[in-house]
Amino acid sequence: MGILVYEDNEIFVLKYPHLTFVLKNNNMSINQDYINTNKDRFLNELFELLRIPSISADPAYKNDVHKAAEFVKEKMIAAGADDVEVCPTAGNPIVYGEKIIDASLPTVLVYGHYDVQPAVPLEFWYTPPFEPTIRKTAVHPDGAIFARGSADDKGQFYMHLKAFELMMQTNTLPCNVKFMIEGEEEVGSSNLGKFCIDNKDRLKADVVLISDTSMIANDVPSIDTGLRGLSYVEVEVTGPNRDLHSGVYGGAVANPINILAKMIASLHDEHNHITIPGFYDKVLELTQAERAELNKAPLDLTDYKKDLAIEDVWGETSYTVLERTGIRPTLDVNGIWGGYIGEGAKTVLPSKAFAKISMRLVPNQTSDEITALFKKHFESIAPKGVKVEVKPHHGGEPVVTPTDSKAYIAAAKAMETTFGKTPIPTRGGGSIPIVALFEKELGLKSVLMGFGLDSDALHSPNEHYGIFNYLKGIETIPYFFKYFAS
Ligand code: BES
Ligand code: MN
Ligand code: MN
Repeated sequence: MGILVYEDNEIFVLKYPHLTFVLKNNNMSINQDYINTNKDRFLNELFELLRIPSISADPAYKNDVHKAAEFVKEKMIAAGADDVEVCPTAGNPIVYGEKIIDASLPTVLVYGHYDVQPAVPLEFWYTPPFEPTIRKTAVHPDGAIFARGSADDKGQFYMHLKAFELMMQTNTLPCNVKFMIEGEEEVGSSNLGKFCIDNKDRLKADVVLISDTSMIANDVPSIDTGLRGLSYVEVEVTGPNRDLHSGVYGGAVANPINILAKMIASLHDEHNHITIPGFYDKVLELTQAERAELNKAPLDLTDYKKDLAIEDVWGETSYTVLERTGIRPTLDVNGIWGGYIGEGAKTVLPSKAFAKISMRLVPNQTSDEITALFKKHFESIAPKGVKVEVKPHHGGEPVVTPTDSKAYIAAAKAMETTFGKTPIPTRGGGSIPIVALFEKELGLKSVLMGFGLDSDALHSPNEHYGIFNYLKGIETIPYFFKYFAS
């Protein structure tokens, strides 16, 4: 089994196992000794998991989803967990396992997801999405693993299994641990809520620990203290009862694509404010002091724009980039289709147009309320010549996690130990709907100790996860356990 190593865009070099990674090794901790001895295996195991295309959105990959669950189960057992089980649900299974060393000690519930986003569009990948390949990048000079799911979330939850193995092998597990790795996060975790309610006792814990978010940079550790919620809808605009000749009828019959484009454009005003009545009613405005604190996080706008090859950023007037992604709600079209998109030109006035639209929510918006507001507004702005249907998809509630909890402080201390810098509290722009449910159903707060970077191309072609980040995570997690248990 060989691993190709690419240096930026040049193909070439080494074949595993001749590859050596330079680890910056200032404090020779027990963790680092164990990691140095086992890092090749740690990488190989992750590669094996990354080769399984466990795409939850596409039923064609059902077998692979189950294969990934079995793989996680085997590795959980091998790492030393007890009562490991692939728990069936109405959807994809949840892998559960635990190690209870002493019921009187605290318990950490580790959550992650083994399902991944679809890999399309395939043509933009440097290397095939399910053939993990190491390439160097500007922010990952030690190399990054390119594969769908490498950062989101296989590479990140797998760190927890390896950190657990490390603690078991070095006799340093200081408290109880439970693992719950699900297979439907990328499609809204619709069966996990029920699993939590049905397994309240089994899931009893003191905190949920999650690595499924990003840090600011490899030399600027940070911890997300909030996640946005989500309201996701699909809209269908129907004009005439059939596709028409665009010359014979064009100009006299409403074209659903023209109409849809106009309706979508009207959802933002000239300040990029969302125009849906009531949309901002429940938005929790931060104080000037809180905003100033949030904006202390370093963000190099020049690098930001360069990375995305854009001339300028975009968004709601009088908010910074960090605010626009962290504490403000948004509305974005995720996909739009209809009419003729084949070769050449076909003159047609289409019967239908479609779009998928996501709204990111912030406290105290709720996804049901926002979905209802959207539906009402979108239907109200449709001209008479078309019919509009709004179909709600999954949703999720926003969360804010405390920074004064024992668990947050343990995570901050753990990162400080291994990065040599206190992590900065930040707000994550993405959503993990189950985090709000953990609070509601299990009464548990979460710590979002993520090790990825926003630039790791999550959900995009060429998703990758730094080898530095993977190994750093494995090194840091045992410190979290140590500080949390003490
Ligand atoms: N891990 C991400 C969420 C994330 C990424 C949070 C980066 C903060 C920083 C998660 O897998 C995800 O992609 N969630 C979806 C929501 C889901 C309902 C499809 C999202 O945010 O779009
Ligand atoms: Mn994720
Ligand atoms: Mn994701």
